[in-house]
Amino acid sequence: MDKKELLIKVLLLGSSGQVGFELNNSLKPFFNLKLVNRSDINLQDFERLDSIIEKFSPDVIINAIAYTDVDKAESDSNEAFRVNADLVQHLAEMAKLKDALLLHYSTDYVFDGYFGGSYTEESRVNPLSVYGKSKLLGEESIIRSGCKYLIFRTCWVYSERRKNFLLTMINAFRTKEFINVVDDQIGTPTSSNLISELTLNCLKKIFYQDTSLNEVIGIYNMTAKGETSWHGFAVSIFERLKSLGYKDMKTNSINQISSDEYLLPAKRPKNSKLSTAKIIETFGTDILNWEHYSNDLLEKIVANTE
Ligand SMILES: NC(=O)c1ccc[n+]([C@@H]2O[C@H](COP(=O)([O-])OP(=O)(O)OC[C@H]3O[C@@H](n4cnc5c(N)ncnc54)[C@H](OP(=O)(O)O)[C@@H]3O)[C@@H](O)[C@H]2O)c1
Repeated sequence: MDKKELLIKVLLLGSSGQVGFELNNSLKPFFNLKLVNRSDINLQDFERLDSIIEKFSPDVIINAIAYTDVDKAESDSNEAFRVNADLVQHLAEMAKLKDALLLHYSTDYVFDGYFGGSYTEESRVNPLSVYGKSKLLGEESIIRSGCKYLIFRTCWVYSERRKNFLLTMINAFRTKEFINVVDDQIGTPTSSNLISELTLNCLKKIFYQDTSLNEVIGIYNMTAKGETSWHGFAVSIFERLKSLGYKDMKTNSINQISSDEYLLPAKRPKNSKLSTAKIIETFGTDILNWEHYSNDLLEKIVANTE
């Protein structure tokens, strides 16, 4: 361990979330890490948060806090905007004031999904949902603030904790004989573990190697490689569990349905494919196909249930 590494101070907001939890694990050995969670955040008054920032004086502020309940956000838009836009704007202003790097996560839902190819960081945004609009406003306030920033747009995040598609499917396979899964939305399942490893790699490049922060400020897509539909993801989870000898499976049929047959409050983009060329080229990162990561996690989950 290089002593210099632990001198870099990182304030991590939201370490109880899917991404925040993994970030805590990945960054802890390399940085002087301080965690900020719900009890430290008053969305009406940022006094406590500001005093934490003042006292700790971070080199990097990582925001893994977000209002992520996409459907609930449709009827709870004030809270979604407070978390995804107002808090983010405040963090950006504090980052500017303290000359800290703000590292923030955003989403494929800033796009409308009508484009046929992979979205790049320059593609036109047009969110379809309250969640997408609130996240876009957060991004815009960061850019407007003039702070040093990295915005990582990710997609279809899952992990072994909290609420996500992979865990929902495992539960469905255990309890239902047949299930219906949407097959007309395309994206890239991305593990929170991959996101934390890629984030660590970027921070190491900037703080301990030869990457100049001023030259890399910007938005980056951060997902695994490849693409599938929700149905494809469900089938892959099912097949992997079977091949691992997971016993507790009741499901014998996974049916394809369209988004129109599975109506939800929030509209989702049909195409969420994000090009990862920029992050790979800029940070020299290795990214594998999405199935590699989901297979790994399923192996771990099955091992833990035995
Ligand atoms: N999940 C996805 O599929 C997905 C897809 C694309 C992009 N993203 C983006 O990836 C990032 C990480 O998402 P995630 O899946 O890790 O989210 P998550 O698991 O839902 O975690 C959200 C975090 O935000 C905190 N939080 C929410 N509301 C808060 C509030 N009012 N005050 C303080 N803390 C609050 C939560 O704290 P508590 O534990 O106290 O609730 C938790 O730590 C977000 O920027 C998200 O927009 C996620």
